[in-house]
This record gives sequence, structure tokens and C-alpha cells, in this order.
Amino acid sequence: MQFPLLLLLSLASSASASWSKNLNYRSPSTHHPALGIAIHKVVKRNEPGSSYPASTLNFTHGVASGDPYPQSVILWTRVAPQSDNSQSNKTVSGYAPLFDHDNEKYVKISKAPICVEYKIAADRDLTKVADSGTVFTSSDVDFTVKVEATNLEAYTTYYYQFSVCNSNNKSPLGRTKTTPNADDDITKVSIAVYSCANYPFGFFNAYGNTVRKDSVDYVVHLGDYIYEYKNGYYGWGDSMGRIPLPNKEIFSLYDYRKRIATYRTDLDLLASHQQFPWIPVWDDHEVADNTYRDGAAELNNTEDSFMKDGGISVDQRKMNAVRAYYEWIPIRQVDMDDNLRIWRSFSIGKLVDLLMLDTRQYDRSITDLYWNTDYIHKISDDAGRSLMGSRQENWFYRKLSESAERGATWRIVGSQIIFSRIDLEPFKGTKNPLNYDTWDGYQSNRNRTLHHLYSNEINNNIFLAGDSHASWVSDLVWLGEKDYNSSTGAGGIGVEFAGSAVTSPCPYGENITLANANNFSRIIESSNTELQWQDLYYRGYFELHFTHDDVQANFFGMPDIRTKNAWEIPLANFTVKSGANRLQRPVAGGVVESGSLKFGKVVQNNLTLDTDNGTWFVSHPN
Ligand SMILES: *[C@@H]1O[C@H](CO)[C@@H](O)[C@H](O)[C@H]1NC(C)=O
Ligand SMILES: *[C@@H]1O[C@H](CO)[C@@H](O)[C@H](O)[C@H]1NC(C)=O
Ligand SMILES: *[C@@H]1O[C@H](CO)[C@@H](O)[C@H](O)[C@H]1NC(C)=O
Ligand SMILES: *[C@@H]1O[C@H](CO)[C@@H](O)[C@H](O)[C@H]1NC(C)=O
Ligand SMILES: *[C@@H]1O[C@H](CO)[C@@H](O)[C@H](O)[C@H]1NC(C)=O
Ligand SMILES: *[C@@H]1O[C@H](CO)[C@@H](O)[C@H](O)[C@H]1NC(C)=O
Ligand SMILES: *[C@@H]1O[C@H](CO)[C@@H](O)[C@H](O)[C@H]1NC(C)=O
Ligand SMILES: *[C@@H]1O[C@H](CO)[C@@H](O)[C@H](O)[C@H]1NC(C)=O
Ligand SMILES: *[C@@H]1O[C@H](CO)[C@@H](O)[C@H](O)[C@H]1NC(C)=O
Ligand SMILES: *[C@@H]1O[C@H](CO)[C@@H](O)[C@H](O)[C@H]1NC(C)=O
Repeated sequence: MQFPLLLLLSLASSASASWSKNLNYRSPSTHHPALGIAIHKVVKRNEPGSSYPASTLNFTHGVASGDPYPQSVILWTRVAPQSDNSQSNKTVSGYAPLFDHDNEKYVKISKAPICVEYKIAADRDLTKVADSGTVFTSSDVDFTVKVEATNLEAYTTYYYQFSVCNSNNKSPLGRTKTTPNADDDITKVSIAVYSCANYPFGFFNAYGNTVRKDSVDYVVHLGDYIYEYKNGYYGWGDSMGRIPLPNKEIFSLYDYRKRIATYRTDLDLLASHQQFPWIPVWDDHEVADNTYRDGAAELNNTEDSFMKDGGISVDQRKMNAVRAYYEWIPIRQVDMDDNLRIWRSFSIGKLVDLLMLDTRQYDRSITDLYWNTDYIHKISDDAGRSLMGSRQENWFYRKLSESAERGATWRIVGSQIIFSRIDLEPFKGTKNPLNYDTWDGYQSNRNRTLHHLYSNEINNNIFLAGDSHASWVSDLVWLGEKDYNSSTGAGGIGVEFAGSAVTSPCPYGENITLANANNFSRIIESSNTELQWQDLYYRGYFELHFTHDDVQANFFGMPDIRTKNAWEIPLANFTVKSGANRLQRPVAGGVVESGSLKFGKVVQNNLTLDTDNGTWFVSHPN
């Protein structure tokens, strides 16, 4: 029998393709295949030569890159015979069912896996190839491909592309960038910081604006990349054609895959992944609301809630979410034997060390679940409580010390939740005046962190946070322990920049007016001595531009997220001088566009809010 030439070629190429180089086959734990994929079973199922014809396959969700190192970077794509996600959570006797939409039933996958080639080069035409390879993907990993491209040069821009083996079926061209070597003396680096993108609340314009401006080197994401809810429960996606699928609260592996895939249809999110290497961590909603080590607000680990929620336990739900996350998000698993470990660090030349924490899923002590607030308030200063667990906490303090010892100018700490104390008594009353789901609920953990920084004289600390859907800029200070002067910033040990949401709504009312939002901001700002600027109104993001002399922080607000558009307003700009350990005075140059600025003015469309008497008056700039 004569084989068609194409088939022969494809057999030749498949023969050298690798399973294990598609990192998703080894995820979430290479040493515990029961948690993920048993590659030998997939190989056994494989019917050589019966692969999908290349013309029936699509790159369904673009390309992405992430976790840049000086010599390597993670590359991602998905190539599938249909855009729907895999049902392989229900693996039955060795095969993974796929939904056949024409016949509306599940069918066995008996075809051979899909062979995919990748190539990364220093030029757009992909002629100066630095690395390439051939891997398999299949329904078992939702047709995702995640590879580590190696042999790269430090702090260099690269272009990459995937293709179906021996075909002209190619993915979009991606761009990425490695980090400098740890001892390279680079002079500047820029990052954009995002959090809290909720699909049915609006378009992800914020992600697209840094692409259009091409204003940063890397994107840092602090979590809440997806939300687990049904549309309508939280969000108004119907009015914008943005229904998060499957349209229900999500529990199964298929559900989490489908939800991430839906988010990945937003064109601005796709563009950001295609142009920038991402450094992401999860917050709670990648799994469920207010998660901690053993549970979440809406799912108790009891038989009763197990029955109510379709027979999925807290642990199973978390594993489903985590597996889908690793399949879809371009990150490394730095410890393949610890499937929940996402905390990790990056050295960006001598300029910056970036520590990405997991204050949520890994080993967090019990949090505020809404019905237990009094109890969490009572135990919030308990010495045994940790946001991170002892393994991560020890790593965190050690990394901070090592960073100072090696002489990196800046330390960035990517926390999900707000670090600084925020007294909300005017809104919450005297009984439980804090938000116990933030570091305020884990005060000994915060004190241990501050103690470590002050006692070791570790300077130039920039803490980041998301989670809150609002902007908060504070001097980082150990209140009650160090003398702090709010007008000069003396006594600080760094600065905290906490950013607003890509689309998730203002916590003080999803359709709040600008005047009401700024009134509330003023009340919150004036109740907290170290909080220098607060804004509730705008959805948005911020950029950080680092040099050895200073950090410039630029906050941007999106005035309209109900349509896809590029409109943004610069809200406030901050400077932190190296060695100062506080915001440069006058903070924000004394003027911001919105919110409330301590010792400063709010100027919005020529209206000025007098922060002393709370009224607006028309200003007349010269
Ligand atoms: C692949 O993309 C083409 C063009 O957009 C479309 O017509 C086709 O239905 C897609 N096929 C699958 C399997 O998604
Ligand atoms: C697998 O996914 C399907 C489709 O969402 C769901 O009905 C089923 O319950 C899931 N099974 C498990 C074990 O998660
Ligand atoms: C979890 O348990 C608490 C305490 O018994 C109860 O108040 C709460 O309603 C439960 N939540 C769910 C989702 O079952
Ligand atoms: C944290 O430090 C402050 C200031 O020293 C102190 O008042 C407070 O009791 C400490 N809290 C805990 C839980 O250690
Ligand atoms: C803060 O510093 C300023 C300027 O040095 C000074 O005038 C003011 O008295 C200080 N405030 C406090 C509370 O020490
Ligand atoms: C906010 O506005 C949207 C329409 O843009 C509406 O669907 C939603 O119900 C409003 N929310 C509240 C709390 O009024
Ligand atoms: C600001 O908010 C407070 C608290 O809700 C309210 O009492 C006050 O009337 C508001 N002021 C203005 C000017 O809206
Ligand atoms: C912030 O800086 C930008 C330039 O980067 C400028 O256009 C903008 O007006 C500044 N915004 C404020 C509120 O000072
Ligand atoms: C602010 O006022 C100046 C002078 O009155 C005017 O030229 C400018 O257009 C106004 N800007 C806005 C945004 O209203
Ligand atoms: C508030 O202060 C501004 C000037 O800063 C003034 O023009 C305005 O009249 C004051 N309003 C009230 C109600 O005192």
C-alpha cells in the first residue's frame, strides 16, 4: 500500500515529537500522575497515523508567553479540532470523551495526538532561530501546548510561532522578552500591573492600552483573572454580549477550562498575551470567592454543601481550578512536586527582584467567610495565623534578605490583597472596622514581615496589591511601632501601590457616581494616616517605571468599559526616590484627577474638590 506523501511526513515528524516537553502533560504534579495525566495511558490509547488532518485544526485562542528568565521563557498556545473545551475530566476506561456538536453526544477520541512545532527567533520573519521543538497535545490537556523555549539571550526581544507539523497551519506570531541576567547592570525596566478582570462587567480595554502604547516590558497580574459566578448573579453581560460560559457557577474541570477560554476571547486580553510576557499569580476567584487553605465563602467542607454543589468537594474543586489554570496560563511550575506552589521569584538585573506571593490558595489560615466575621476579628492578631504557611513565609523572608544582600536596587512584592492597615470604621462601625480578608486579618504575619524589613534594614520595598477593585497608595510603615510622619513620610520602609480592577465593579456601588465615590474616598483617606491617595471610581491599571534613582508610578482610569475602546485618563503620578522609603513630597505633585489626595487637590474636568470642606468648585487654570 502506498502512503500519501503528507502522511509519511507527518509520521516522520511525530516520531520525534515529545510528550513531556508539553509541560501540561506533567502538570500539576509530575511525581503524582494521579493528579494529572498518566502519559503512558495516553500513549497506549494512541492510534498512530490517524491524527486530525491539519486543515481541520485551529489555533483557537491565540498565543501567550510568560515567566521570563534570562535564558528561557514559557510559550503557550491551543490547537484543537473544535473550539469547545475538553471533557477529559470524565476519562473513562482510557479514552477522553469529546462533545460532538453535530450529533449532540460524547464521542470517544480514538485519534492520535496532535503534533505541534514551535519556533522562537530574534526576528519577525523567524529566520534567526534560537530554539525550536516538536510536541504533542490532545484532549487530555484540553489541546493546550505549553513549552519552555531555551537557549535565549538575556533581556532580548523574541518572536515565536506554532504550527501543525508538516503543514502551513500556523498560529499568530507572538512577541516576548527575556529578563536580564541577575548581575546585568540594566538602567531601566517597566511593568504594567493588573488585577480583577470580570468578563460580564465590561471590556478588557485596560489590557489593550499598554499594547497600543507599547509602554512596558512585562505584565504582572495579581489575580482574579477569571470569576467563578453565573452571569446576572454578578455582572450584566447580556447587555454587552459577554456571557461567561458555562453560564453557571463553575465546579468541574470542564467548567474552569471553558470559563478561562471564554475570557480568552476578549481581543484586548488576547493582544496583551500576544505582545507581552506575563508574570501572573492567582487570587481567590481563580477558584472561588474568599478561598483559603481549606475552603471558600460559598462552599463549606461539609457533607451538606458537598451534596448541594453537585458532589464536588472543596479539594476537588480546587484541583479542577488549579489544573485548568496551569493548562491555560503561561507560567512555570517551579516545584513540580508541589502542585499548589505558584509563589516564585524573578531577578531583573541588578535593578529589581520581584517576589510573587500566594496569599490565597496555598496555605492561608481561615479567612472572613461573611458568616464568621466576629470570630475572624477576634483571632486576627493570633500569632499562629499566616497568609502563606510557614514554608512560603520562610522563603519570603529569606528572599527579601538575599535580594538586599545581592544589592538589587528595588524589591517588588506581588501580594494579592492589601498589605497596609485600612481602618474602615466610618463604613463598618467600631465592632469589626477592618477588612479581615486582607493582611488586616493576619496581623502577626504582617508584623513579622515588617519586623524582617526594619530589623534587617531592607530598603526600597514596593508592595503591590489587587483584589480590592479600587486604588490605594500608602507609605509602607509599621504603625504603632515606628514613628511615622504623614506629611513627610518619615518612618516608612517603602511604598504600597494597590491598583483598581480591569472591570470588576467599585465595592461601594457598582454604578456609583463620581461625586459619591470621591466623597467616600475622602472619608477613607482621612481615616488612615499612611494612606496618601485613594480612588474608588475608576476601573484601570498602573505602570511602574524603574531606574536606579527612582520609581515612577502612573495610574490610569478607564472612563467607559461598556464598549471596546482605547480611552483612558491619567489619574495620578507618583515618584519614589531610591533610599527614601516613602512617597516623594508633594505626593502626586499635589494634584490628582480623581479620588482623594492627602495634602493635595483633586482636579477633574476643571472641577476641583476642596478636600477640607468636601465641596466642588470650578477652577480656572491659567
Ligand atoms: C477553524 O476556523 C475556521 C475559520 O475561522 C472556521 O471556519 C472553522 O469552523 C474552525 N474550525 C474549528 C474546528 O474550530
Ligand atoms: C466533568 O464535566 C462535565 C461537564 O461539565 C460535568 O457534567 C461533570 O460533572 C464533570 N465531572 C467531574 C468529575 O468533574
Ligand atoms: C457554612 O457554614 C456556616 C456555619 O455553619 C453557615 O452559616 C453557612 O451558611 C454555610 N455556608 C454554606 C454555603 O453552606
Ligand atoms: C503588631 O505590631 C504592633 C506595633 O508594634 C503591635 O501594637 C501589635 O500588637 C502587633 N500585633 C501582633 C499580632 O503582633
Ligand atoms: C511632621 O514633619 C513636619 C515637617 O518636618 C513637622 O512640621 C511636623 O510637626 C511633623 N509632624 C509630627 C506629627 O511630628
Ligand atoms: C448598574 O447598571 C447596569 C446597567 O448598565 C444594570 O444592569 C445594573 O442593574 C445596575 N446595578 C444596580 C445595582 O443598579
Ligand atoms: C458623604 O458620605 C457620607 C457617608 O455616607 C454622607 O454622610 C455625606 O452626606 C456625604 N457627603 C456628600 C457631600 O455627599
Ligand atoms: C501624569 O503624567 C502624565 C504623563 O506621563 C501626564 O500626561 C498626566 O497629566 C499626569 N497626570 C496627573 C494627574 O498629574
Ligand atoms: C478647562 O478650562 C480651560 C479654560 O477655561 C479650557 O480651555 C479647557 O478646555 C477646560 N478643560 C476641560 C476638560 O473642560
Ligand atoms: C469650600 O472651599 C472652597 C475653596 O477651597 C470655596 O470656594 C467654597 O466656597 C467652600 N465651600 C464651602 C461650603 O465652604
